[in-house]
Amino acid sequence: MQRVGILGSAVVGQTLAQGFKTHGYEVRIGSRTPAKLASFTESSGVPAGTFEAVGGWAELLVLAVQGTGAEAALSLAGAANHRGKIVIDTTNPIAPDPPIDGVLKYFTGPNSSLLEGLQAAFPDTRLVKAFNSVGNARMVNPVYAGGRPTMFFCGNDPEAKATVAEILKQFGWDPADMGTAVAARAIEPLCQLWCIPGFRENHWTHAFKLLWD
Ligand SMILES: NC(=O)c1ccc[n+]([C@@H]2O[C@H](COP(=O)([O-])OP(=O)(O)OC[C@H]3O[C@@H](n4cnc5c(N)ncnc54)[C@H](OP(=O)(O)O)[C@@H]3O)[C@@H](O)[C@H]2O)c1
Repeated sequence: MQRVGILGSAVVGQTLAQGFKTHGYEVRIGSRTPAKLASFTESSGVPAGTFEAVGGWAELLVLAVQGTGAEAALSLAGAANHRGKIVIDTTNPIAPDPPIDGVLKYFTGPNSSLLEGLQAAFPDTRLVKAFNSVGNARMVNPVYAGGRPTMFFCGNDPEAKATVAEILKQFGWDPADMGTAVAARAIEPLCQLWCIPGFRENHWTHAFKLLWD
């Protein structure tokens, strides 16, 4: 699997597009308005296209859009285009309200998740949640004095998760498999926790590490 399509034109999409390119993959990046990626394409060498074009071209996809637009973006990419493919879901269900004491508001509840909703809407797509619990500045090849940080991930398809675990290792992470899509109920709120030092102390470069005994 060499052709990676990034669905999302903002900072996460651009960071992971660069990251996959650095790690030797062939990459394209998608947007509803590909023209806005002209300067990114010029500086990175990553071609841009519509969500549909990128969805059809890629062997593996990364979903890096606003949580409120996640289902729409996968619809635009085309269900038939990503049927059977792995989609790494980096999204978080952030509601359009300001944080309270540094805590973001979510549009999901404690017993639901964005990933589960997407998996229900696209049952033949192999969604794996990952990269949602760290800031874009440390997504690719993070370096910490305390060693490799942990990236929690989950999804229903074991083979898809094994592929994503290898990618996470390649990108400098210690992957931690939390189980099926239901685990996104616990993984997505890690973004709320991760953002608290950001909103309260303007600290945006930390990462989680799970210490096993
Ligand atoms: N920022 C971070 O450091 C960070 C870290 C971890 C996880 N995340 C998560 O990663 C995702 C991307 O974050 P971001 O900060 O890069 O960008 P963002 O501003 O959350 O999302 C921008 C992208 O969302 C797309 N989009 C917005 N509404 C849409 C709709 N209704 N239909 C289809 N597409 C829509 C935009 O499409 P167009 O290109 O067409 O405008 C654009 O590509 C978010 O879910 C975020 O929670 C972010």
